[in-house]
Amino acid sequence: MAHLSVGYAAVLARHGFDAAVLHSGRLQKRSSFDDQYWPLRAVPHFQHWAPLAWPDCAVVFEPGRRPLLVRLRTVDFWEQPAEPEADFWLQAFDVRDVADAGGVRDALPSGQRIAFVGDDDERRVDWGLDAHARDAATIRALDALRTTKTPYEIACLAEANRRAAGGHRAVRDAFLAGGVSELDLHLTFLRATAQDDSETPYKNIVAVGRNAAVLHHIAYGRRPDAGGATSLLLDAGATCLGYAADVTRTWTRGSGAAAAAFGGLVAGVDAMQRRLCDQVERGPSFETLHDACHVALTHLLADIGVLRRGSLSVEGALAAGVSRAFLPHGLGHSLGLQVHDVGCALRPPRPDNPWLRATVDIAPGHVFTIEPGVYFIESLLAPLRVGPVAGALDWALVDALAPFGGVRIEDDVVVPADPLARARNLTREQFDDAGGPV
Ligand code: GLY
Ligand code: MN
Ligand code: MN
Repeated sequence: MAHLSVGYAAVLARHGFDAAVLHSGRLQKRSSFDDQYWPLRAVPHFQHWAPLAWPDCAVVFEPGRRPLLVRLRTVDFWEQPAEPEADFWLQAFDVRDVADAGGVRDALPSGQRIAFVGDDDERRVDWGLDAHARDAATIRALDALRTTKTPYEIACLAEANRRAAGGHRAVRDAFLAGGVSELDLHLTFLRATAQDDSETPYKNIVAVGRNAAVLHHIAYGRRPDAGGATSLLLDAGATCLGYAADVTRTWTRGSGAAAAAFGGLVAGVDAMQRRLCDQVERGPSFETLHDACHVALTHLLADIGVLRRGSLSVEGALAAGVSRAFLPHGLGHSLGLQVHDVGCALRPPRPDNPWLRATVDIAPGHVFTIEPGVYFIESLLAPLRVGPVAGALDWALVDALAPFGGVRIEDDVVVPADPLARARNLTREQFDDAGGPV
C-alpha cells in the first residue's frame, strides 16, 4: 500500500488537492419503475485500495496519514453484502463504521481541498464537496496509476487465471461430449468456477457455431446441440480479490472437410497468438503490436487459402482492409481491476484502429490481454465481396468456414522488468498445453 500512497500523494499534489475521498459506489436501480437493484460494481479507484464490494463505503486518503476506511454498516433484514474473500488488507487502515451514507462527511478532514473520486454526484453533494472536487484530469491520472501492477496484483491476476482455467476445462469437456446448449455451457462454467453470474468479471461469452461471429454473444441458446461438426468460442473469466482474468479459447468438434479447415484456422490463430505474446516487450506502443497482428493475420489468411496466393501483396491486402474485415476488434487491452483497464488508453488510437483499447507505450508491470481472432461477420465481409479485391479471396472457402462463426484465443500477459526476459503468460501457465489450446 506504500506505493499507492506515494502515487496518490503525487497525483493530488499535481492537481491541487490535499486529500481524496474514494467512493465505493451506490447500488443502481435496474429500472426507475421498480425496486430492483443491480449488484454493485465497485469504483475501481476504491477497489485499488480495498477489495470490498460494499455500497456507500469510502476510503479517505491524506498524504502522510494512515488511510481511513469508512464502512457503511446498516442493520438490514432484507440483504447484506457479501464478505470479502480475505481481510488481511484491513490492517493497513484505520476503520470507522457508520450507520448511514452521510457518516462519511464527518470523517473528512476539515479545511482541506478534497478530491471526490467516484461517479455518484449525489454523494459528492451529501459529503459537502463542491463540483470542483470531481475533477476529470485527476481521475484520469489515478486511472494511469492502476496500469502498472505490483507483485501482489500480479499474484491476484495469476490466481484469477487459475480459477478461470478450471472453468474452461469443464466447458471444453462438456462441449466435446455434445448434447448441450449454450446456456448449459454457461452454467457449467459458473459451477466449475463457483461463481454467480453477477460475480464474473464480465458476462460469459458462450458462442456455438455461427454465434461466434457475434463478438459479445451473451444471448445463450437454450436448445441442446444436435451433434455434428461445430465450434465453441468461450470467453470467460474469474476474479481474485477484484482482479480479473479475461480468457478465450475456441474448440471444434466433428469431422468433414470444413471442420478440418476450421481446425486448421484455430491452430493457425493459436500459433499466431503465441508469437504475438512473445513479442510483448517494453518500449513500443501497444498499437505497434496491434499493427504487427494485422500483418501476421494477412499471412495466416494466405496460409489457409482464404487469401489466394499471389493475388495481392501483404501491403495491398492491408490497404484494402482485408484483415480488418476478419478482425474488427483490437489486439488486446490493459487488464486489472477492470477488464478493460482504462488507464492504458489515455491517447486515442489511429482512426483505422477505432476499437483498440490500449495505445500506451509498453512498460514493465503492464498487463495486457493478447486476443487475436478471425470471424466470419457477413456485414463486414459484404463490402469485400463486391469491392476491388473481391477476386483475391476464396469465397467458397469463406462460406464453408462461416457456419463455425469464428475463433479467438486470448491470454493475459505481464510485461517483464528484464528487457531480455519473455513476457509472463498468466493464462498458459494454468492451461495444459500438451493437450492442445486448453
Ligand atoms: N471479454 C471481453 C474482452 O475480451 O475484451
Ligand atoms: Mn479481452
Ligand atoms: Mn475476453
